[in-house]
Order: sequence, then structure tokens, then C-alpha cells
Amino acid sequence: MKFFADTADINDIRELAATGLLDGVTTNPSIIAKSGRDFLEVAREICAIVSGPVSAEVIALDHTGMLREAEVLRKIADNVCIKVPLTIDGLKTCKVLTDDGTQVNVTLCFSANQALLAAKAGASFISPFVGRHDDNGFDGLALIRDIRLIYDNYGFQTEILVASVRHGIHVLEAARIGADVMTAPPAVIKGLVDHVLTDKGIEGFLADWAKTGQAI
Ligand code: E4P
Repeated sequence: MKFFADTADINDIRELAATGLLDGVTTNPSIIAKSGRDFLEVAREICAIVSGPVSAEVIALDHTGMLREAEVLRKIADNVCIKVPLTIDGLKTCKVLTDDGTQVNVTLCFSANQALLAAKAGASFISPFVGRHDDNGFDGLALIRDIRLIYDNYGFQTEILVASVRHGIHVLEAARIGADVMTAPPAVIKGLVDHVLTDKGIEGFLADWAKTGQAI
């Protein structure tokens, strides 16, 4: 499963990229607002660090406006992936852009039917939001299972990008289901390394090593 970082924090992106864990980055208007930085400038910087897809989201709600914004965004770098909302105009835009060889991430997916539409429109990625689905009393992981089943039934190539990931269980289950990608905040990705027995093991080894009086 590929790992994308859901952030515009350059230090976090650099740190994760250095581990070899990072396959791409996703941003959205709220993430850009939180960074307090110029959208195009920060997107350019991210694309220079990460060679995989970097999602940059359009703001326009109409097809013509989305295409106009996509023109600006795709000039940032070859690895920019245009993010469009799951609406009829978003799907129309997805079709035009993917027909033209541009990667598209269809975002804000909350149903398997929506995911089916995105695949039919040629989306490179579909982003079902598991955390927000759970928050609203639905089963986010059941949604991922349904999308996997439907895409496999028909051989759709659209990659399932599990989004709105909040914790390790989301990551584990997404991997079990066979999702193609997950995107999570850097803290969630880094948190996957934590295990009390790893910490305890290091502590024990260091204590025993100290008794030898040796140095390496
Ligand atoms: C996906 O691309 C979105 O940026 C993201 O995962 C949304 O997550 P949130 O529900 O934590 O805002």
C-alpha cells in the first residue's frame, strides 16, 4: 500500500521522504489555509521534494472554472495531481483532464456509488473519507470494502486512496482490504512505528550493553 502524507508542512514532508516511506502528498484548501502559505509556492516546494503524485485541489465549483484552475495547477510540476470534488462538474472535469493524460484525484467520496461514478469518469484516484464517515455514524472501512469489491468486479484501474485517516487501525484495515493508497497526517504515519515492546526492548538491550563497558 502506498503512503501519502496529508499535509503542506515542508519539514514533515522532508522528514518522511527521508525514511523512504513517502509515495505522494495530498493537500486540500483547509490544509493550505492552515499552512498560512501561498498555495502555488508551497505546492511547487512539495513537488520538488516528492516525486510521486501531489494533489492540489481546485476551488471553482463549475466545470469551466475547474478547468481554468487546473491549467494553472498543472503547470506547477509534472507530478501534480488535480483534485476535484465529487460533483457532476467535478466528474466532467475529471474526464477531460484524464483523457488529456493529467492525473486526477476525485475527493469527498462518501458512498460506493460515488466511487463507481469516479471510476467511470476515468479518475486516477478516488478519495473516500473514512474518518469523517465514522464521525457521522457510518462505517468508513465498510465503504472501502465495498469500493474494493466493485472496482475488482469490473477491473477499474482507479486507485482507492483511503483519506481522512485518523489512526493505525484505519491504516491496518485499509491494508487488509487491499486499498491502493492511504493518506494520513504525518503524526499518524510516524505513530505507526510506536510499540511499547520495541521501547522496552531497546531499554533492555542498552542496559545490558552498558554492563559490558564496551563502545562501538
Ligand atoms: C484527503 O485528501 C483529505 O485531504 C483529508 O484526508 C481530509 O481529512 P480530514 O477529515 O482529517 O480533514
